[in-house]
Amino acid sequence: MTRVLMVCLGNICRSPLAEGILKSKVDSDKVTVDSAGTANYHIGKGPDKRSIATAARYKIDITDQRARQFTAEDFDKFDYIFAMDRSNYNDIVSLAKNTSDKAKVTLMLEVLNNPQAIEVPDPYYGGDSGFEHVFQLLDQATDLVVKKIESH
Ligand code: 4NP
Repeated sequence: MTRVLMVCLGNICRSPLAEGILKSKVDSDKVTVDSAGTANYHIGKGPDKRSIATAARYKIDITDQRARQFTAEDFDKFDYIFAMDRSNYNDIVSLAKNTSDKAKVTLMLEVLNNPQAIEVPDPYYGGDSGFEHVFQLLDQATDLVVKKIESH
């Protein structure tokens, strides 16, 4: 079993989409996918309505997800930890116990190898188009993540 964790700040906009999109592309008997936020603002809440609507347009249902906060124990529970932006990356790595923990963490868009797209922008304070943009970035990145996981 390969275990993948998607992490953003609030765990209500970006990482729930990343979780839902990757889940839609993998065999759940082989890959488990979860998400978390570095902040505690939204613990227990469902995804943002705009993330739910965006996922639904692509026939992905993320309504059952509930926000939780990233903890240091997640390093033991997951093989791959994907941070949506650099601030998330730094917050996650600051909790790493050793170099092996740290090595599990990468920026989600690193797989795209595109210097124009390094971070998944936080869509929380913007309009609906920000969520569509986030979806497209995550859709491209997760295609490559699937290949990476399957080659292991
Ligand atoms: P997310 O978006 O990190 O993609 O879930 C955010 C959600 C909430 C807040 C910030 C970002 N907030 O400040 O409440």
